[in-house]
Amino acid sequence: MPGSGLILGIETSCDETAAAVVERGARTLSSVVASQIATHARYGGVVPELASREHLRAIVPVVGAALEKAGVTLSDLDAVAVTSGPGLAGALLVGITYAKALAFANQLPLIAVNHLEGHIHAVLLNEREEFVIDGSRNAGPSTRSPLRAELAQDDHRSGEPASQKGNRRSPFDCDRSRDLRSGQAFDSLALRNAKGSLAQEDSGIAVNEAAALALVVSGGHTHLYLAQPAHDTWRYSLIGRTVDDAAGEAFDKVAKLLGLGYPGGPWIDALARFGNPNAVPFSFAQIKPKAHLGGKAPRTKAARTAPIARLDPRFLFSFSGIKTAVLRYLELHGMRAEAKARVSRVLANFLPPQTREEAFALCPQATLDLIASFQHAVVGDLMKKTFAAVESLGASRILVTGGVAANRELRQRFTAEGAARGVAVLFPTLALSTDNAAMIAAAAWPRFLARDFAPASLSADPSLTLG
Ligand code: KG4
Ligand code: ZN
Repeated sequence: MPGSGLILGIETSCDETAAAVVERGARTLSSVVASQIATHARYGGVVPELASREHLRAIVPVVGAALEKAGVTLSDLDAVAVTSGPGLAGALLVGITYAKALAFANQLPLIAVNHLEGHIHAVLLNEREEFVIDGSRNAGPSTRSPLRAELAQDDHRSGEPASQKGNRRSPFDCDRSRDLRSGQAFDSLALRNAKGSLAQEDSGIAVNEAAALALVVSGGHTHLYLAQPAHDTWRYSLIGRTVDDAAGEAFDKVAKLLGLGYPGGPWIDALARFGNPNAVPFSFAQIKPKAHLGGKAPRTKAARTAPIARLDPRFLFSFSGIKTAVLRYLELHGMRAEAKARVSRVLANFLPPQTREEAFALCPQATLDLIASFQHAVVGDLMKKTFAAVESLGASRILVTGGVAANRELRQRFTAEGAARGVAVLFPTLALSTDNAAMIAAAAWPRFLARDFAPASLSADPSLTLG
């Protein structure tokens, strides 16, 4: 057996059925992702009923493959973690029901993980993994080790290896006393105080485990959080968010308008390299949240789930306008027919173009310029607001995560801007940027240490929020 502290993560919130085994939130033993792209591509978006059905088909083999690749059996595990929201209700329920059954049958604790927290932990997992590799190379003990700090706390608290099953609480024991999901009121002083008190109270926490601004940018979310380590767990405060579409949604919708494949992000990313990013001057208006709400109830479901009005308007995003601007541009320049004609060729090819020749075979220069300009504008807006928030909060590092964090231009420009400002910018690996279960197992580790287990009544929460 590779060691104790093994958590099986399960993720079924949208269109990927994923399972992974992660050791102590720091070492990925396996990560298996079964994508449903082929199922949904012909509809140009995720069809919820089909997603649930595909999850049902894939969940048993995917979990089996994750255990096999990790070289472990169910009896080696210490907990089962599952995404409880946000996401598609039916899709979430497949993962939750299966995770519950596994946990119950094997007398394992069940840990509920917020999908957004999972994305943040994708970056932290990579960071810890690098440490594990470096640590094994350098061998000697280090008081700056975040992992060692956690392990020491765990050993101290449990007094036994985590894998020793005898003394376990019931899998469905519920201890919500340490539930940290509810957000905290936040101001820039809070961050500075948090940094100071962390340094005093817990010198075992390495500098790179300090508070960070996290940009979660995916198909369903464009959210800015302040993530702060608090003893053995993490606390999140919502700093900014989109008031309408998510950035990934804009990539998907614009790709659809242009007759490109689903999901749109990888197509736009691949084609933008061959266009002029300054050809079409897209702009984003500054959002005034109170004016946006106009005293009326928020229009979108997303807007209803968070009190946008209390957020600083400088950190609010809006991506629905740029989609309309692209549509108008296509109509004004007589490019609609050309876009429509592309659909059948794209469906036949299936994968985004890799070479200049393939890109030009698919799109004329004017379309490539439009694509490059769209991507440049979206990345520019994400950067502008994220760096404004980092400056305002005094944070020293940014975690950029979620499917859109796989974007090449985004990675390059965030990294360059961070270097110019002396702010560290961290991304997950490409595989961990999009939905996966390793991030869910990693996010579950602090909850495991805190014995923050889910009750037997755990259900899907499609609009679960963070912070
Ligand atoms: O995190 P994710 O896999 O699922 C959600 O939680 O939504 O993100 C999927 C989103 C899709 O909108 C997809 O178009 C976008 O991430 N995406 C990208 C890239 N790869 C995936 N967007 C821009 N550039 C990419 N390379
Ligand atoms: Zn996601």
